[in-house]
Amino acid sequence: MVHFMPQSKLVRFGLLFAVSTAECFCAAPKGWNSWNSFANLVNSQIIQREAEALAANGMKRAGYEYVVIDEGWWQGQRDSNGKILVDPKQWPAIKPGQKDGDMANIVDYIHRLGLKAGIYTDAGRDGCSMYPDSGPTYRNTGSEGHYEQDFLQFSKWGFDYVKVDWCGGANEKLSGAVHYAEIAHAIKRAESITGHPASFSICEWGSQNPWFWAPGVGGIDSDIWRTGGDIIAPVVESLHDVDHQKRIIALNNVLDSFDAGTHPEAQHTGYYNDLDMMVIGMRGMTEAMDRIHMGLWTISSAPLIVGSDLTRLSPANLAVLTNSEALAIHDDPYGLQPVKVDEPTPGVQVWAKPMAVAGRRAVAILNRTNNSAKVQINWSKLGLDAAPRSLRDVWSGRNIAAAETLFSVPAQDLLLLLVDGEDKKPDKYTASQSVITGIRATGGPTFARVHYSNTSGHVVVARLKSTSGLSTAVALLPTSESDVGVAGLILPHGTADLSFEVEMVVVRDVAVYAW
Ligand code: GLA
Repeated sequence: MVHFMPQSKLVRFGLLFAVSTAECFCAAPKGWNSWNSFANLVNSQIIQREAEALAANGMKRAGYEYVVIDEGWWQGQRDSNGKILVDPKQWPAIKPGQKDGDMANIVDYIHRLGLKAGIYTDAGRDGCSMYPDSGPTYRNTGSEGHYEQDFLQFSKWGFDYVKVDWCGGANEKLSGAVHYAEIAHAIKRAESITGHPASFSICEWGSQNPWFWAPGVGGIDSDIWRTGGDIIAPVVESLHDVDHQKRIIALNNVLDSFDAGTHPEAQHTGYYNDLDMMVIGMRGMTEAMDRIHMGLWTISSAPLIVGSDLTRLSPANLAVLTNSEALAIHDDPYGLQPVKVDEPTPGVQVWAKPMAVAGRRAVAILNRTNNSAKVQINWSKLGLDAAPRSLRDVWSGRNIAAAETLFSVPAQDLLLLLVDGEDKKPDKYTASQSVITGIRATGGPTFARVHYSNTSGHVVVARLKSTSGLSTAVALLPTSESDVGVAGLILPHGTADLSFEVEMVVVRDVAVYAW
């Protein structure tokens, strides 16, 4: 039996197959983060209000579940044992029996709403609070020297998600691969002590090419890694601060983040390039920009962590964020990024990704230009044998005649399509002793289904190398004795002679679909 990674958490999966109990970002996480709209002024009241909005405005129902408390929640003080000291005024008791200054209070509040809680630190000694623009400077807000202690504390408080930034790490010129691996170990150690799993969000802005080392770093069961800087510096509306109000999002801010984040060969189920928090609902965004942002982030299966003030979202913002067909593209079990299959005129681009259902594609026609465009799609460039059987316009929720090949896209807008057709026949390569050589993917974009078994009980990271010089990581999730795991992969352009180097995992064969 071929097993496709389900959309459920690995915990549930684990009951079935007795594998790891760690959290799995089986689909990239969806939720909210405090930074973009509250910066380091974040406190318990803000988090309560935003968590309530998330639970009530339709986003929770659509699958947004994380409430992440970003920078600013502590000011770097520790007691004589190195234990983090929290400001009791910012994080007071919320109900009787609780103590002021205990972060478990807010976690409990978030959990009671049926949501999950996220927290933030830095891999270095100082965090980013050294460069505040809405409060004083605080030293020592990072976790370096306290990894085991801090991640155990986060776990004891009940946090389900940890975002680890890189301001201190960058200043000290640390190695991301080394330090994030140590942090992954600390997270796993904490889980083994408390029994409470936490998901890992790496935030080093792509500075040390994390797509080469972040998937499964330190043996973590799933993770996400930021691929670039912040789309925009925070805009705290309540400050009425001129500098903040000058921060207006332009389309290029969103497009730059997408462009910096496209590393499709590193991404597959459970391991995601993070294109940064979403800015839908923030200053400067229009309805067409919302469609571009949501379309690119969902077709990329990127984390959908919204950074705006959820209490101020318009019905139109919410309609885009909760569009169920766009979210289904996002949650596709293969979790792949799209590849650019065509650019008929500069700035008019066709992006497509393969999905877990045979012959299915998500297609985004992105018009970056100031003129409306008519785009002819050549289905063969999407790896389809013939014209599709069905075509769906995701924004309108309507079917389009399957024979249609010409699509209109207004200036600076995006059309999102779901396409069902027939895959071209793949080439099959059988493995010998877990090594497959001689895979040829010399044409355009290439998609591969890797069949493997991994009965080690934990994630195994395979090095994937090619004679074209590429070296990347593929993290293979555990399978049971009788199941075959399938990982969907995008192979790099022009790849030739591909080999997997793995231990404890049997790679059986690879089906390669050249587009
Ligand atoms: C960096 C990160 C942001 C946010 C801030 C907090 O800029 O990229 O996402 O966490 O730090 O200071």
